[in-house]
Amino acid sequence: MKEWKTAIVGCGLISKNHLKAINNLETVTCIAVCDIEKEKAEAAAKMYGVKQIYTDYQEMLRNPEIDVVHICTPHYLHAQMAIDALHCGKNVLCEKPMALTVEDAKKMAAAEKDSGKLLGICFQNRYNEAVSAMRKILQSGTLGKLLGARGQVTWNRNPEYYSSSPWKGCWATEGGGVLINQAIHTLDLLQWLTCPVVSVEAGIATRRLKDVIEVEDTADVLMIGEHGERLLFYATNCYVKNAPVELEIVCENGSVKMTGNTVSVEKKGKMTVTDYSSGTTLGKDYWGSGHGVLIQDFYHCIQEKIPFSVGSAEAIVSVQLLHAIYCSAREGKMVYL
Ligand SMILES: NC(=O)c1ccc[n+]([C@@H]2O[C@H](COP(=O)([O-])OP(=O)(O)OC[C@H]3O[C@@H](n4cnc5c(N)ncnc54)[C@H](O)[C@@H]3O)[C@@H](O)[C@H]2O)c1
Repeated sequence: MKEWKTAIVGCGLISKNHLKAINNLETVTCIAVCDIEKEKAEAAAKMYGVKQIYTDYQEMLRNPEIDVVHICTPHYLHAQMAIDALHCGKNVLCEKPMALTVEDAKKMAAAEKDSGKLLGICFQNRYNEAVSAMRKILQSGTLGKLLGARGQVTWNRNPEYYSSSPWKGCWATEGGGVLINQAIHTLDLLQWLTCPVVSVEAGIATRRLKDVIEVEDTADVLMIGEHGERLLFYATNCYVKNAPVELEIVCENGSVKMTGNTVSVEKKGKMTVTDYSSGTTLGKDYWGSGHGVLIQDFYHCIQEKIPFSVGSAEAIVSVQLLHAIYCSAREGKMVYL
C-alpha cells in the first residue's frame, strides 16, 4: 500500500488530535508542519518527530512530496487554504467549519471537482458509536414517522480561551461564536439524523463575556423540516462546565435520546439504555472520540479512490444552516433555506 505523506497547517490546540491520529496510521507519515508562529511549528515537529517546518503555507504547498494537507487554522483561512492546496494537487482534510460563507464553501467544492482530489471536513462526531447507533435505529424505521427533535450544547468558555487564540471571539475571523465553533457538530448531527431543514427562526446573544468577545455565546433556534417536523436547538458557552451534549429525536412509535455517549431508546413504553463510551478519546472528551476514526476513513477513501462520507456536499449543509440562523437572528425574521 502507498505511504501517504502528509502536512499540517496550523499547530494549535486541535492539531494534536490530527498528529496523534496520523501517528497511529501505518500508511501515513506527517512530513511537514506549518504555523505562522514558528515556535508552534517547532514544538509540534519536536513532539511528533516531523522533519520539515514551514511558516508560509504557500511555500509548503510547493513541496511535491506532500500528498495530503490537514487544515487546522482559524476559520477565516479554511476556504483559501483548502482551495490553494487542492489547486496544488493535494488532498485536503479541513477542520470545521468548512467555510465562513456559502459562496466560499461552493468555491471549495468546485476546486475539489477541478482538482480530482478529495476534500473532507472534520465532523468527527458523526463517527461516534453512540451517533452510529442512533442513526441505525432511525434508519431501521421501527420508530415510525419523525415528529421532531431537540439538541442542546451547554458548555463553558472562559476569557482565557479567547485570549490564547485572538481570532476566536471576532466575527471577521471566527465567523460567529458558540454556533459556528462549539455547537456546529451537534447542529450537524441534528439535521443529518433527522430531515432537511426548510426554514429557520433564531435568536443569538452575548450574555456572559460582553467585554471579551463580539460574537454570540448563546443561541436558540427553531428549524422546520420539509414535512413540518420541529427541530429545536439551544447552545451556550455560559455554563459552569462542558456538560454532555444532548440530542433527542421523537418519532410516532417512540424516541431515541443521546446524552454524551449514552443512548436511550423508548418504544411503546419500554426503555433500553446503552453506554457507548469507548475510552479512545484523542483530545478533550467533549470533542468526541472520532478524530482517529474519521482520519483513518479519510485515508482509506483516498487509497480506494472512493467518496468520503463527510465531503463537501455534506458539509455545505451546515454552512447554509448557519448562514440562515445568523440571518434570522440579525433580521429578527424567519429565513427559508
Ligand atoms: N473538530 C473539533 O472538535 C475541533 C475542536 C477544536 C478546534 N477545532 C477547529 O480547529 C481549527 C483550529 O482551532 P484551534 O482551537 O486549534 O485554534 P488555535 O488558535 O489553537 O490554533 C490555530 C493555529 O493556526 C495558526 N495560524 C494562524 N494563521 C496561520 C497561517 N496563515 N498559516 C499557518 N498557521 C496559521 C496559529 O498560529 C495557531 O497556532 C478551527 O477551525 C477550530 O474550529 C475543531
